[in-house]
Amino acid sequence: MKKSSNVVWHKPTISREDREQRNGHKSLVLWFTGLSASGKSTLAHAVEDRLHHMGCHTFVMDGDNVRHGLCSDLGFSLEDREENLRRVGEVAKLMIETGVMVLTAFISPLRRDRERVRSLFPHGDFLEIYCDADLSVCESRDPKGLYKRARAGEIPDFTGISSPYEAPINPELRCPTGTESVEANVDRVVAMLRARGVIAE
Ligand code: ADX
Repeated sequence: MKKSSNVVWHKPTISREDREQRNGHKSLVLWFTGLSASGKSTLAHAVEDRLHHMGCHTFVMDGDNVRHGLCSDLGFSLEDREENLRRVGEVAKLMIETGVMVLTAFISPLRRDRERVRSLFPHGDFLEIYCDADLSVCESRDPKGLYKRARAGEIPDFTGISSPYEAPINPELRCPTGTESVEANVDRVVAMLRARGVIAE
C-alpha cells in the first residue's frame, strides 16, 4: 500500500542509457521461474558466469539469499510470496537503472505475480525464462531434502506438493532444465540475448 506522499521524483544526471553505453550492453531483467530444484539458481549463475567473462555487468538475485535479509520477515503463504516478489521486482527495477543485467532466481509460482513484476518494466526489459523440469525430476534431485520433508507433512505450503505452481504460458524462453545440460541451456539464453540485440553478435 502506498503511504508516501509529497515526494517528488529526482531525475538523475547520469541516465541508464549513459551507463549502458559505457558498459557496452543493454541492462535488463532475466527472470528465471520454476519449481524448487528445477535448476533456476544453477542456470542463472552459469549464465552470469558466461556473461561476466564476455565483459558484461551482471548480478544474480536468488530466493534463498534474499530471504535471509530483505525478505527474512516473509514466509511461503501465497500472500507472503506476492510481497517477496513485489520487493524483488522493485529492487530489480532499481538495479537495471544502474546499467546492470539482473538475473533473478525465484520460484515465483503464480502467473499474476510474475505479470505484476513484468508490468513494472518497459516492453523487452523483462524476459521470463521458464526452467522446465518435471516435479518427479525435482523431487528426485531434492538437494536440500525439502521435498522429502514436505511429503512427510513437515513443511506446509510447499510448491508442487501443497502449494500451486503455474507454468508460464508464453515465456520469452523455455529451458528444459530437467533433461538437458546446464551448458546447453546457457547457450539458449545467450543465443536469445544475441537475437534480441541485448549483447553484440
Ligand atoms: S517464491 O515462491 O516466493 O518465489 P523463493 O524462490 O523466494 O519462493 O524461495 C524458494 C526457496 O525457499 C526454495 O528453493 C526452498 O529452498 C525454500 N523453501 C522453504 N520453504 C518452502 C516452501 N514452502 N515452498 C517452496 N520453497 C520453500
